[in-house]
Amino acid sequence: MERFIIQGNRNLAGTIKVSGAKNAILPAMAACLLTSGKSVLHNIPNLIDLKTMSHLLRVIGARVDNENGSMTIDARDVCYPEAPYELVSKMRASIYVLGPLLTRLKEVRVSFPGGCAIGTRPVDLHLKAMESLGATVSVEHGYINAKTDGLKGADIYFTKSSVGATINTLMAAVLAEGKTRLFNAAMEPEVDSTIELLNKMGAKIDGIGTTTLEIEGVEELLPAEMDMIPDRIEAGTFLIAGALSKNPVTVANCEPSHLTAVLEKLKEAGCELEIEESTITVIPPVSIKPVNLMTLPYPGFPTDLQAQFTVLMTLAEGVSFIEDTIFPERYMHIAELNRLQANIKIDRNIAAVRGVKELSGAEVMATDLRASAALVLAGMVANGTTIVSRIYHIDRGYECIEKKLNSIGANIIREEVS
Ligand code: UD1
Repeated sequence: MERFIIQGNRNLAGTIKVSGAKNAILPAMAACLLTSGKSVLHNIPNLIDLKTMSHLLRVIGARVDNENGSMTIDARDVCYPEAPYELVSKMRASIYVLGPLLTRLKEVRVSFPGGCAIGTRPVDLHLKAMESLGATVSVEHGYINAKTDGLKGADIYFTKSSVGATINTLMAAVLAEGKTRLFNAAMEPEVDSTIELLNKMGAKIDGIGTTTLEIEGVEELLPAEMDMIPDRIEAGTFLIAGALSKNPVTVANCEPSHLTAVLEKLKEAGCELEIEESTITVIPPVSIKPVNLMTLPYPGFPTDLQAQFTVLMTLAEGVSFIEDTIFPERYMHIAELNRLQANIKIDRNIAAVRGVKELSGAEVMATDLRASAALVLAGMVANGTTIVSRIYHIDRGYECIEKKLNSIGANIIREEVS
């Protein structure tokens, strides 16, 4: 197991580059199963979750090669309709093979994803949508079993905005017979990116960037090649690192239009921002202002940046209230931040963050991907040394985070512990 040793109170300055978006790449990899050829995805970072997905696709019969930031997926020999427990338990996004395999092989078995550190995470919307498209779905012995004689277009209303259910349903509907309409679809950039890839493959999806999507089923999809979008969560994490610093930090290779809500909140906290086509420079405030925050579906403030923004608020001059409406139990980082002498209380799923003068280094434990990023940010500004253990969580979704942050002045050492 590895851990980070972080020397705090460092001044960051300079330019840090964002990698491709994990949450756009995972569904893109699954979408490649819908063709019988070789698709190529570019701007691929080195992340554990992408390795897990590659492993799953190989189990299913695809060939996956990843070299120099480009991934080739040859789905000619896809034949095995199962996502086994060992892989789904490592990564919930394995559920993305449900729609493509149901379409391609007419049957699929996916281990039922359990809860995780950020709370209970049901998949009912995915399953209902597959049923609406004409699949028979049952859950037995910990596995979701779905079968069909051929999917047929339908009108589907999502009772909750769900990125995963929207994408899975799109991937099932593109080759279904007739028209499908999705209402209250998620509008996250990762959904748009999947639509763009599917349309490049020959799908007919209208309504990109809106909550109503219309899909006209086609007979066949062909392999495609696409550059993956930059990771807006990684970009947001680095912007918050800049806001916590004393000098300007420039975040490069990002897409500012995907970060509107985050940029608004940084401005409210007192940051100045210089925004160009693919770079954002954050000029930190002399004193951080308290900001109330509610996470919401896109274009609202992303739940995946809630923990990191909370770190910024621990040093604000006043009290901030933070509510995660997407995952109301996503507060595992709070107890760890309080170990660093933050002053945060949780009352009915709202975190009240009373700003303190400084954080004080301590040993803390990473509990999930984004919470780990928050602990790294906190360690970078705390007095003294912070040790973050269980950092395998962070490697799931941040490429070489310590190397990137050290390149702008952080002092983070990765250490193997037995
Ligand atoms: C994706 C992201 C995750 C992010 C989340 C919300 C990936 C791999 N993961 O997860 O990082 O935090 O979007 O932006 O892209 N829900 C149901 N039933 C369902 C599905 C979801 O009730 O069948 C609920 C969830 O519990 C949650 C809300 O809908 O409250 C949104 O979840 P969803 O958008 O589906 O998250 P994921 O796609 O799993």
